[in-house]
Amino acid sequence: MTTTIVFASEKGGVGKTTSAVNLAMAFVVGGYKVLLIDMDPQGSVRFSFGIKGPVKLGTRQLLLDPSVPVDKLIYPGNGSGMDYIFANIDTLDEEKELSAVMNDPYALQRRIVSEGQRYDFIILDAPASTSLLTINALTAADLVILPLQCESLAMKSLKRFLLAFKTLQRKVNPGLRIAGILLTMYDRSLEVHRRISREVYDTLQDSVFQTIIPKVKEITEASALGQSVITYSINSVGATAYIRLSKEILDRFGLRPDNGRR
Ligand SMILES: Nc1ncnc2c1ncn2[C@@H]1O[C@H](COP(=O)(O)OP(=O)(O)O)[C@@H](O)[C@H]1O
Ligand SMILES: [Mg+2]
Repeated sequence: MTTTIVFASEKGGVGKTTSAVNLAMAFVVGGYKVLLIDMDPQGSVRFSFGIKGPVKLGTRQLLLDPSVPVDKLIYPGNGSGMDYIFANIDTLDEEKELSAVMNDPYALQRRIVSEGQRYDFIILDAPASTSLLTINALTAADLVILPLQCESLAMKSLKRFLLAFKTLQRKVNPGLRIAGILLTMYDRSLEVHRRISREVYDTLQDSVFQTIIPKVKEITEASALGQSVITYSINSVGATAYIRLSKEILDRFGLRPDNGRR
């Protein structure tokens, strides 16, 4: 069975892409087969893996052109167990072309359901907003992870997202569940981080992952080098955090042991 997980938040720079890339790699290290799809026109996933040039086939064809099989859009991860579909929504015209057809919130879901079933996990990196691309990603997903930085407006933007989430759940994807709120870039030496994390756990309790992603230099270094922190430094604090998160998700949703491929 395939579980599709989306990272979403209204705000940019909260660690969505970093978390999508590293959770995907953590599942791969755990022996799962993973497809990572970049739904963000900024195309950060492709840069995270050191691919600088344009990508011919990618998310645009995935959403716009069902005549191109999904297999043709996939970049194999050289035997790493991870496959990618990179974003290739590079110009404003391309984004406009996409939005014309994206009024259909089910475009991505149809493609994944019909052609993505050989993966254990499909991880979606969504743009910062509640745009049509994000809605497509949320419609296609089983679980949503909400990265949250412990800053003063964090709770406010989270509450807004939760309202939008409920509407979406009611209207287009009743099966969507919140996997959890993920505290990212946490610096326990900062009083404000400690205070806001307490507030988040007090208010939202079990909806918050026990795993907290610390702010650590190896995560920044890894992404600057076009790598996941897991391949960059497997025993580092950053890598350990994402591996722990992957295990927490497997346990929380009874996804282990997989009764499929493993
Ligand atoms: N835990 C972390 N520790 C240190 N730097 C991080 C961490 N998480 C993310 N970053 C850095 O913060 C920046 C924004 O993260 P990113 O994942 O791109 O956010 P988003 O996708 O939500 O816009 C990136 O430069 C990334 O390398
Ligand atoms: Mg991003």
